Amino acid sequence: AVAPDLAGRRVVISAGGTREAIDPVRFIGNHSSGRQGYALARTAAARGADVTLVAANVDLPDPAGARVVRVSSAVELSEAMAAERAGADAVVMTAAVADFRPVTSAASKIKKSGAAPAPIELVENPDILAGLVVDREREGLEQTIVGFAAETDDVIANGRAKLARKGCDLLVVNQVGGGRAFGTEDNQATVLASDGAVVDIPTGPKEALADRVWDLVVERLPRGAR
Ligand code: PMT
Repeated sequence: AVAPDLAGRRVVISAGGTREAIDPVRFIGNHSSGRQGYALARTAAARGADVTLVAANVDLPDPAGARVVRVSSAVELSEAMAAERAGADAVVMTAAVADFRPVTSAASKIKKSGAAPAPIELVENPDILAGLVVDREREGLEQTIVGFAAETDDVIANGRAKLARKGCDLLVVNQVGGGRAFGTEDNQATVLASDGAVVDIPTGPKEALADRVWDLVVERLPRGAR
């Protein structure tokens, strides 16, 4: 039996990859399948949490016991997270969010003209994770905020810099590239905590990694607030 150590807690998890429209048929996207986020939702529900899963372009069955909110773009994900974060004990951002989006999405399909293709002008998307931390600080909430990071090089050094920049409590750093993490059954990570803790999670099913992340969240939740 699983310990119901998240009973009475509300958790919000983002999963999948955002799509930024170029025209009605094309987008800028990424290889996130949503599996890691769905594993977090399933394991949190099994541990008794009230789970909201914000899913960006995920083609997986709804996890048992989770309420699923569907979005596509980074701006839609940002709006959904802003609406759902209120009253949550923990917020976990596993979604792979496009850092940039096209300034405009063409109303009709872009055609070949024979001339050189027009460049796609980009604008920066909001940093959703950093924004969640700002909202929490402003409201003085006791909320544990977890980010994920996908890094190809200097994984730990880049992870530490990202943890400091985003201000979250835990950053789960995945090594990606070479067929790792995106779309796979298994994952591996080093978790960096703002309190200085460093926890290695060896390669294993995404459910096992999710359970280790919840262990670290449970240790940091305020006691007696249930
Ligand atoms: O979905 P799977 O196929 O199972 O793959 C899982 C995964 C590899 C996508 C997942 O484990 C993972 O690493 N997710 C984070 C991917 C990512 O976009 O990392 P990042 O280093 O670009 O972003 C760092 C953090 O900031 C993330 O929590 C991200 O959600 C957040 N972010 C990033 C950009 C942005 N504009 N807003 C954000 O909130």
